[in-house]
Amino acid sequence: MKSKVLITGMAGLLGSNFSRYLLKQGYDVVGIDDFSGGYKENLPKEVKCSNINLGELEAVESFFKTEKPEYVYHFAAYAAEGLSPFIRRYNYINNLICSSNLITSAINHNVRKFIFTSSMATYGAENIPPFTEDMQPKPIDPYGIAKYAVEMDLKLAHDQFGLNYSIIRPHNIIGCYQNIWDRYRNVIGIWIRKIIHHEPISIFGDGMQKRAFSDVKYYYKPFEQLMTSYNGEIFNLGADQEQTILEAAKTVQKCAADFGYKPEIQHYEPRHEAKIAFCNHDKAKRLLNFVDGTDFNQTIHDMFEWALTQPDRPVKSIDYEISKNIYSYWK
Ligand SMILES: NC(=O)c1ccc[n+]([C@@H]2O[C@H](COP(=O)([O-])OP(=O)(O)OC[C@H]3O[C@@H](n4cnc5c(N)ncnc54)[C@H](O)[C@@H]3O)[C@@H](O)[C@H]2O)c1
Repeated sequence: MKSKVLITGMAGLLGSNFSRYLLKQGYDVVGIDDFSGGYKENLPKEVKCSNINLGELEAVESFFKTEKPEYVYHFAAYAAEGLSPFIRRYNYINNLICSSNLITSAINHNVRKFIFTSSMATYGAENIPPFTEDMQPKPIDPYGIAKYAVEMDLKLAHDQFGLNYSIIRPHNIIGCYQNIWDRYRNVIGIWIRKIIHHEPISIFGDGMQKRAFSDVKYYYKPFEQLMTSYNGEIFNLGADQEQTILEAAKTVQKCAADFGYKPEIQHYEPRHEAKIAFCNHDKAKRLLNFVDGTDFNQTIHDMFEWALTQPDRPVKSIDYEISKNIYSYWK
């Protein structure tokens, strides 16, 4: 048996997929998830995933005492970037305080390496894409601020306590097990859910925002490599091929037709977001042999097929801490 690896957020998109990969490679995998944004049904059957909210430091400490993970992949978060200004407290607790609790336990229990999924959101709107890892982060929303704060906290944890870490800044990952029942995040998932419910594909603004989507399966190998290399380094990971949201919507529309759906595209008021956001991945290609082979059509097709096997879950809504200036479609 290889090393013992903890994956937080195991019931989510990255956690459920990557844990399956690690199991196949022979690792001893354990998980933590509070199922606030992921589902028990997503978990690989052979894995123990403890229902713990990372906000509870005592529970996290007790988990580490019992399980003694050697490596930690910290994926748990509430990644609703556009919503984060309206749920500031929830955002900072879930994305910053929870991470700091996990870092505390990783220090206390001598974890060998801590791998953290930050976000492209750290770059913000002032940096000009394609973003490179050496750019000064200038996040424009509480989600990006929380991610950047955790990055800085990790550096301190290394400098003061010797905690080894690597940071990944992914963007727009897609694949099966993505939460499609949350109306605040995961644009492709939202569209697929809406289509299955015979609702139009929703676009905020004119759809000229540019994004690059990548299939989750291309992340596994570079993630695994980071377990034992590149301490203190930051890597962008994701697709090179950016497209407009409108183009993406048209592809999803075409794919929907293969499954017998004929959705229309509907435009709503624009929201506060970076218009054009994509990354340069040269560093990951050079050092991690990262190759993004995403076939957007195929991944959408796979997601559709998977979504059609899923129960008709209720759509998640959340109590806003600030309702001022909330977009009409979220009222
Ligand atoms: N998916 C993307 O496109 C993307 C892009 C950039 C960064 N990221 C980051 O990658 C990570 C994984 O993303 P994902 O798409 O798999 O997200 P996800 O929402 O599918 O999974 C996150 C999981 O974390 C769990 N969780 C949330 N808060 C928790 C808490 N307080 N305690 C315990 N568990 C908790 C949720 O229940 C969920 O299962 C996140 O940190 C996210 O910010 C994702």
